[in-house]
Amino acid sequence: MTPVAGTPLDTFRAELERLRHDAAEALAAATNAAAVEAARVEFAGARSGRLKAAQKLLGAVPAADKPAAGRDFNDTKASVAALLETAQERFARVEDQADDAIDVTLPGEAVTLGRFHPITQTIRQIQEIMGQLGFECVDGPEVEDQWHNFEALAISPEHPARDPLDNFYLAVARGADPLLLRSQTSTVQIRVMESRDPPLRIVSLGRVYRPDTADATHYPMFHQVEGLFVEPGTNMAHLKSVLRLFASRFLGGDVHVRFRPSFFPFTEPSVEVDMEWGGRWVEMGGAGMVDPAVLAAVGYDQDAVTGFAFGLGVERIAARRYGVEDIRDFYRNDVRFLRQF
Ligand code: DAH
Repeated sequence: MTPVAGTPLDTFRAELERLRHDAAEALAAATNAAAVEAARVEFAGARSGRLKAAQKLLGAVPAADKPAAGRDFNDTKASVAALLETAQERFARVEDQADDAIDVTLPGEAVTLGRFHPITQTIRQIQEIMGQLGFECVDGPEVEDQWHNFEALAISPEHPARDPLDNFYLAVARGADPLLLRSQTSTVQIRVMESRDPPLRIVSLGRVYRPDTADATHYPMFHQVEGLFVEPGTNMAHLKSVLRLFASRFLGGDVHVRFRPSFFPFTEPSVEVDMEWGGRWVEMGGAGMVDPAVLAAVGYDQDAVTGFAFGLGVERIAARRYGVEDIRDFYRNDVRFLRQF
């Protein structure tokens, strides 16, 4: 202790002042709870703290000065206690926060993002590509009448495609004009031609329904892409070019398209459409020049108007592209499968 000149009371007060000053300094410099605790032991420690030592000096103060010295001592003790409490609170708060603070070094919780079903993705890509070829997307109803699903498409009443066992006829409408879940998207060709004049370039993508037993290549509900192109001078070469451009864009690379003679009541001539990809030919659907009977059914001048149409299976196209062996996988709703797309 530095000797201070003056009365014992002066010496005592000087020590109290130094003690309070040192305590304030030590606590201001403390950067954690441990430093605060060390200061508490140094200044307020019950056995050898500096307040305890100062208290012992009180004995040297003359009796007359004792009451004043005692008050000063108590003031100093109280102010050191207050300084300690403030410092302790400061670090207690920091430590509380640390308990539930965000640990920025932890790996974040992965957010699960949803995505479109592979069939929806395929539909959108087909729409995009056909849009670039000038085809407009249109929709038609899934519940259809005989006219649009069969008659206007020249599918006569005795045609096996109309067999009740091959269609989902609706029980609610067993009357003269039964309704059914459409069995093909060719219905949309009729609806568009009935309401618009040529020229037309439309595609329609949507669900169709047939009571097939589900297996690797069949499902009672599936999707078709229907195309209709009506312009003067249209021929089969235009049809093949459009299908080849589409297939090349969708599957990537130069995809070859092959026509095999076939029959559909609503096209003449009619073909099956195969696409070659990965060294294999795969049947994708049917196509042909719109039959004059269909043009007449929708009120077009069958001698002046020409067009082509095609209908392809969306599941087939998607399965081909993604290497899916069993189309039922598309509808099992197993996210481990769906997540791959
Ligand atoms: N609608 C036919 C089917 O479901 C596919 C089809 C064939 C559509 C020829 C067409 C077409 O537009 O011209 O099997």
